[in-house]
Amino acid sequence: MTRAKIVGVGAYAPKHILTNAELAKLVETTDEWIVQRTGIRERHVADDSEATSDLAVRAAQQALERANLGPEEVDFIVVGTTTPDMVFPTTANFVQHKLGARRAGSVDVLAACTGSIYSLSIGSQYIQSGKYRTVLCIGAETLSRITDFTDRGTCVLLADGAGAVVLQAAEDGAGVLDADLYSDGKYWEYLYQPAGGSRHPATAETVAGRLHYAKMKGNEVFKVAVRMFGDCAATILERNGFRAADLDLFIPHQANLRIIEAAVKRLGLPMERVLVNVDRYGNTGAASVYVALEEAWALGRIAPGDLLLLAAFGGGFTWGAALVRW
Ligand SMILES: CC(C)(COP(=O)(O)OP(=O)(O)OC[C@H]1O[C@@H](n2cnc3c(N)ncnc32)[C@H](O)[C@@H]1OP(=O)(O)O)[C@@H](O)C(=O)NCCC(=O)NCCS
Repeated sequence: MTRAKIVGVGAYAPKHILTNAELAKLVETTDEWIVQRTGIRERHVADDSEATSDLAVRAAQQALERANLGPEEVDFIVVGTTTPDMVFPTTANFVQHKLGARRAGSVDVLAACTGSIYSLSIGSQYIQSGKYRTVLCIGAETLSRITDFTDRGTCVLLADGAGAVVLQAAEDGAGVLDADLYSDGKYWEYLYQPAGGSRHPATAETVAGRLHYAKMKGNEVFKVAVRMFGDCAATILERNGFRAADLDLFIPHQANLRIIEAAVKRLGLPMERVLVNVDRYGNTGAASVYVALEEAWALGRIAPGDLLLLAAFGGGFTWGAALVRW
């Protein structure tokens, strides 16, 4: 059976690190509150010269190098992002051009923080159908650009970063075993950016009203996220005949340590089998699962044959999970 095997992983975090102590100078908060309620200690923030595609290209180049592939071998590029360089053309278009992936078609997928799972699922379907041989899946965000640094409920969470995987057709049993995608638009008001689209195009009033920044009902997001996370993880395991105990590593979306811990408890997994890096990266949206996957790989926490569960949730709401045999 042909599967989409992950043959290269890459990640990129902007150089500038923003600490909790620095945020405490901007809004009424403390390092202690942020660490206790979110687990986040610091996060990376892009500088003025960096747009989302710049971060994406760095992660993609590393993933291609590790896969021993040149950009001209890429057939298709999927970029998950909530913070594109421009409304159009797509960020994937910029990535395709900057990489020199001359043969590749490209598309953006906007599934907020589930952009990693959505892009992985789309990429793996193209491989499994036989349409493409090499697909680059990327999650990249500059969430700092839609962060209101006067709103303590969101500015302590959101961050910038990029991660990428190269998928290639393989017959050796390794690859994406399954991926489930979900959405429910009734929750849209829990997490959204009001202005800048066709509903509220940019005007002096939308700018003055700070409507180009992400708005969030944190408490509501928290409750729904814990339930969705747990449900989709349990569903994909059960349908594929696995139990949580079969997992070698769980790589969850890094939004909040307490959400991860609650989901892990529901799954009945020991924390040693969970990759957590939210303390150093914050919530990097569609990049987060790929950034965490790259860290797991670089630390030698993944070996051939390992069973991995990836899961994410985000604004929309969107959520999803993928099972990967390494
Ligand atoms: C945002 C979040 C950290 C807030 O934590 P919480 O424990 O739910 O806190 P609450 O929202 O209930 O607020 C409790 C109090 O802390 C305050 N507070 C909020 N942010 C604060 C901050 N950064 N520093 C200090 N106090 C803060 C609130 O104003 C509130 O004060 P009040 O009781 O005087 O009204 C938490 O709800 C969360 O992480 N939610 C999920 C968000 C998420 O994952 N989003 C991305 C999805 S992809």
